[in-house]
Amino acid sequence: MTSILGISAFYHDSAACILKDGKIVAAAQEERFTRKKHDPRYPYNAIEFVLNYSNLKLNEIDQIVFFEKPFLKFERLLETYVAFAPRGFVSFAKAMPIWIKEKLFQKNLLFNKLKTHDKDYNSDENIFFSDHHLSHAASAYFPSPFAEAVVLTADGVGEWATTTVAVGKDNNLEIKKEIHFPHSLGLLYSAFTYYSGFKVNSGEYKLMGLAPYGNPIYEDKVRQLIDIKEDGTFRLDQKYFNYATGLTMTNSKFNNLFGQKPRNPKNEKITQFHMDIAASIQKVTEEIMIKLAKAVRKEYNIKNLCLAGGVALNCVANGKILQEKIFDNIWIQPAAGDAGGSLGAALALWYIEQGNRRIVNPNDDMKGSYLGTEFTQEEIEKELELIGAKFETLNYESLINKTSEFLSNEKAIGWFQGRMEFGPRALGGRSILGDPRSDKMQKNLNLKVKYRESFRPFAPSVLREDLTNWFDINVDSPYMLLVANINSNKKIEMTDDQKKIIWN
Ligand SMILES: [Fe+2]
Repeated sequence: MTSILGISAFYHDSAACILKDGKIVAAAQEERFTRKKHDPRYPYNAIEFVLNYSNLKLNEIDQIVFFEKPFLKFERLLETYVAFAPRGFVSFAKAMPIWIKEKLFQKNLLFNKLKTHDKDYNSDENIFFSDHHLSHAASAYFPSPFAEAVVLTADGVGEWATTTVAVGKDNNLEIKKEIHFPHSLGLLYSAFTYYSGFKVNSGEYKLMGLAPYGNPIYEDKVRQLIDIKEDGTFRLDQKYFNYATGLTMTNSKFNNLFGQKPRNPKNEKITQFHMDIAASIQKVTEEIMIKLAKAVRKEYNIKNLCLAGGVALNCVANGKILQEKIFDNIWIQPAAGDAGGSLGAALALWYIEQGNRRIVNPNDDMKGSYLGTEFTQEEIEKELELIGAKFETLNYESLINKTSEFLSNEKAIGWFQGRMEFGPRALGGRSILGDPRSDKMQKNLNLKVKYRESFRPFAPSVLREDLTNWFDINVDSPYMLLVANINSNKKIEMTDDQKKIIWN
């Protein structure tokens, strides 16, 4: 038996996973243990969990693989600084000491951190480094239900690449072409996230959620920032951006183009302007993704598409690619962001480096993405007693009856079963349930339960056999990564008063 530990850390979403003979045994993100969203620190708790779940000690692990190459990233920082000097001095000077002390010597740093799990772990010879976008591509292709696929990855930036096209066939996966920093679809979307007053690297969901409330009236202005070729490749006009050299995403030229300064979330409300901005950047993002998909479909003549990288979490854009019927089948890695890089790095090592045979699982190899922690009935009851919670235990039938009754009375339900999901979406393992027929539900769940903006969306859950009665989509969508339209006969238009309620 060969075991591989995959690690993603020190950037966005730290995570760890373990493969045993190429099969995913466990995977989890550090934030779930530390309760710090997008925790980028060394994933001590996630590694402890995957080791325990796999009944392995660290010194029993055959290979350990990190999701990117720190030296190439250092080179990008250095060259970007030289190319833009002296403009970037502030951010460069700020980033430099950390890079020199920690990131450049990452093998050493990793080794020392890893030792804290097991004092018998005493050689760094089994530590390997994958490539950021190869890790993304591998996380999308190898668990997919396809024997052959084109793989598109897009995010903010890895080492140099921001967008890649790869082709996967059996156990091989090869990156065919790349778009390099500073030209980045992820960073363009993040620039608008920042401009709309949301946090970069986490507020992108908010911008996407805001888009349907706006009209894309700034589409032409967005196009001034980016030169989009017919094949979907693009170049950003750097004079509008600050991210290569500064500590903010956009600059005064950007503000002048759109006519306002970035929204200050502390004292400025979201207005129709921000909704229209969100709709405009969303529309351009969709256009780029569709053009890229069309071009690679034609070039490689392969009927399956896999997606990963942070941009692949834009489920609205994914839904549009599906709607356009460019590919026969689409599969998206549920942990499409950097957390999934831990999984991709491990899979890349197993298949590409070690040449192991790949057997395609027609249902995909992610086990529903239920790869995290699980607890027995005794453990749960013990924990509840410990905190003095009032509870009763129900048999399956009364549990279902009671839940349905509560739901139809407009109550919110915390639903906890089986293993925790890997990836940002709650898929029925750790979910909050509500009745979509209620016109108060969206607002109440957002404001009273999740303490977040009232416009944030929720995903519907529907029996597979009833899917086409409700939505204009007819493919499995188990990972909340494809947005479809609701059928017109089921749609209830919001009145103007109801729209106001959403915003108050
Ligand atoms: Fe990434």
